[in-house]
Amino acid sequence: MITFDEKNQVFHLKNDRYSYCFQIERGKYLLHRYFGRPLHEFRGSAERPALDRSFSPQPGAYENERTFSLDVVPQELSTNGHGDFRIPSLEVVLEDGTTVIELGYEGYEVKKGKPALEGLPALYAKDDEAETLEVTLADTKGRMKAILSYTVFAGDGVLTRSVRFVNTGKEAIRLENASSLSLDFPDHDFDRLSLYGGHAAERSLERIRLMRGVQVTGSTRGASSHQQSPFLALARPETGELSGDVYGFSFIYSGSFRMATEVEQFGTTRVVIGLNPDDFAWTLKPSESFQTPEVVLAYAHDGLNGMSQAFHKAYRNHLLRGKYQHSVRPILVNNWEATYFDFDDEKLDNLAACAADLGIELMVLDDGWFGHRSDDNSSLGDWKVNREKLKGGLEGVAESTHKRGLKFGLWFEPEMISVDSDLYRAHPDWPLHVSDYPTSFGRHQLVLDLSRKDVQDYIVKSVSDILASGAIDYVKWDFNRHLTEAFSEGRAPEHQRETKHRFILGLYSVLERITQSFPDVLFESCSGGGGRFDAAMLYYMPQTWTSDDTDAICRLSIQTGTSYAFPPITMGAHVSVTPNHQVGRMTPMQTRAFAAMMGCYGYEMDITRMSDAEKQQVKEHIALYKRLRPTIQLGTYTRLLTPFAGTKNETAWMFTSEDEKEVALFYFKALSEPATPIRRLRLAGLDPDAQYKVVEYYPAQSLAHDSDGAGSSKLVGQVFYGDELMQEGINIEKISSDFTAYLWVLEKVE
Ligand code: GLA
Repeated sequence: MITFDEKNQVFHLKNDRYSYCFQIERGKYLLHRYFGRPLHEFRGSAERPALDRSFSPQPGAYENERTFSLDVVPQELSTNGHGDFRIPSLEVVLEDGTTVIELGYEGYEVKKGKPALEGLPALYAKDDEAETLEVTLADTKGRMKAILSYTVFAGDGVLTRSVRFVNTGKEAIRLENASSLSLDFPDHDFDRLSLYGGHAAERSLERIRLMRGVQVTGSTRGASSHQQSPFLALARPETGELSGDVYGFSFIYSGSFRMATEVEQFGTTRVVIGLNPDDFAWTLKPSESFQTPEVVLAYAHDGLNGMSQAFHKAYRNHLLRGKYQHSVRPILVNNWEATYFDFDDEKLDNLAACAADLGIELMVLDDGWFGHRSDDNSSLGDWKVNREKLKGGLEGVAESTHKRGLKFGLWFEPEMISVDSDLYRAHPDWPLHVSDYPTSFGRHQLVLDLSRKDVQDYIVKSVSDILASGAIDYVKWDFNRHLTEAFSEGRAPEHQRETKHRFILGLYSVLERITQSFPDVLFESCSGGGGRFDAAMLYYMPQTWTSDDTDAICRLSIQTGTSYAFPPITMGAHVSVTPNHQVGRMTPMQTRAFAAMMGCYGYEMDITRMSDAEKQQVKEHIALYKRLRPTIQLGTYTRLLTPFAGTKNETAWMFTSEDEKEVALFYFKALSEPATPIRRLRLAGLDPDAQYKVVEYYPAQSLAHDSDGAGSSKLVGQVFYGDELMQEGINIEKISSDFTAYLWVLEKVE
């Protein structure tokens, strides 16, 4: 998978999905040469143009070679100061205040498998699943080294890249930009895809033409954020969901990040991804090293679905861990939208009894069970049960829930502290703060300084004390505000700007300790919904609450957007009441259920208040979901229609089981239209030579609960070849109400 051609000095990283090539030039410079479809061998048919470019300077040793400038060569690690004026991936300040160093090639090593990254989540692989290349660059004055790591995964469309910087000199070096990836493309004929949003409106896809100059997506919030997601893709303009070239980038990090693209004067494109330099500086003392987080690169020539499926497969096989990695997730009911803070043992037991009757498998007790918390003003940090609400304590609720045959789950927000808490009264210095100015509040709460070991230990102990009872089967780990005044008491001034990154490292250490100590507990991360939906959190907690917006129509775009980088098995998706609590919309129960079926299914409503007819319908949905769950959670997911394209009115998702025998096809239409357009739904990824039988069909349901009698039900029982289903497709007939959802189930005929 990884070869080095001595003669041409070319590293070739290759599997059956891509080739990635770079070359050592003049014994010193590491120049990027190729990334795309696999090549037999890289021989350099497209010679690097040697042009004399005015205002592009020559490195000192090459004064008379006016065609050689760092400003125009494609680089694997870009620095500034020697004439490359594009965005750098490394910026340093030396003790004398200068900012120039000179890194050159020193050596390489190829390792089987993939070494872990110290203190950071990353993809992992067994020795026969991957190969890792480590290339060392060294400063010509001996000040520092940069070790670039690349891992090629056998048979997967992904490649990872990170960097370790080592101070090999005698002086401290201040890193002001320590990015993980620098990658140059020879042209700029790309669309730039990113995922933007806000609280309760996460991850809509934005696709725009890649612009000249610098474009940045990122976060300075100390979290990967609702606002912009650590995902970027560069797709050829003609690339669609099912065809065309695309390069995807996903950053395994939960804090402030930057994904920058630059189209420079000669039309080439640079991509730089890493910790956000606006929010970071790190002082590296002699012999210390700094490990950057990892970027996952995905290349696909079969469109955006090809890219997403490469991410999905890699994340399912090489990122998620633990007992639930490859097993289906329990159907849950969460009491948040059912009761908010207003609950007691009796209400919870009624909820559990009803849940058990419906076929639900897990009950989650959300915010408000601890301290004296009855609204969001108090008690964060005091992880002791409130016996006024829960007379039998947590053991009591856990026991009564277990007796009903359900698992029991509990909400925590361990990184936070309320001023009205015993914890704050005992440790007023524990939140992030600066001494001269008041600390900013978010939802009346402050953020604990997780860069401190004593704070980390407190969190591990207070959460572990509760989990140690063995009564808790599931944890929802929340994080409901972003970082302000992100400084740490007692830290030396030159290390203060490390605080936000140290906070994240502290969080990872806490999560590793807790999740490894309780391997049977299912952890779901959350941050006001999907404000920290990133690959790093998924390394510790294999599912994430996708959004605080539970409206089915909003969820179509939130979940479709999320699917560009993350597989359905990582997305918490629940049915809630109408009118919906976030947007007030009325949608049919079937639409709410089908929208939530895309991920880890559940209910977020007072199920005890449903009518008998509704309960009957919910039972049917739960039974249906249980049957389809292995296909949805463990199979292959394909976007057929997205709410980001065309009329933005339709969404279609297709799930194919791991053994390719079952297909679940969902179609949603938001608003019905006059002069109903005829809609052909073409399937994808089937075996063209195999035959498929339509075994089940659920026509749309209107708010009045009656079927609108769409005609395609006549397909049930019919058998078609895969080629016809993909080329010709099936019709969706007249739709006469808003917010409709359809489902077809197909089976391969042996
Ligand atoms: C966040 C979560 C919600 C709920 C509340 C509780 O907003 O996203 O699901 O847990 O906190 O306060």
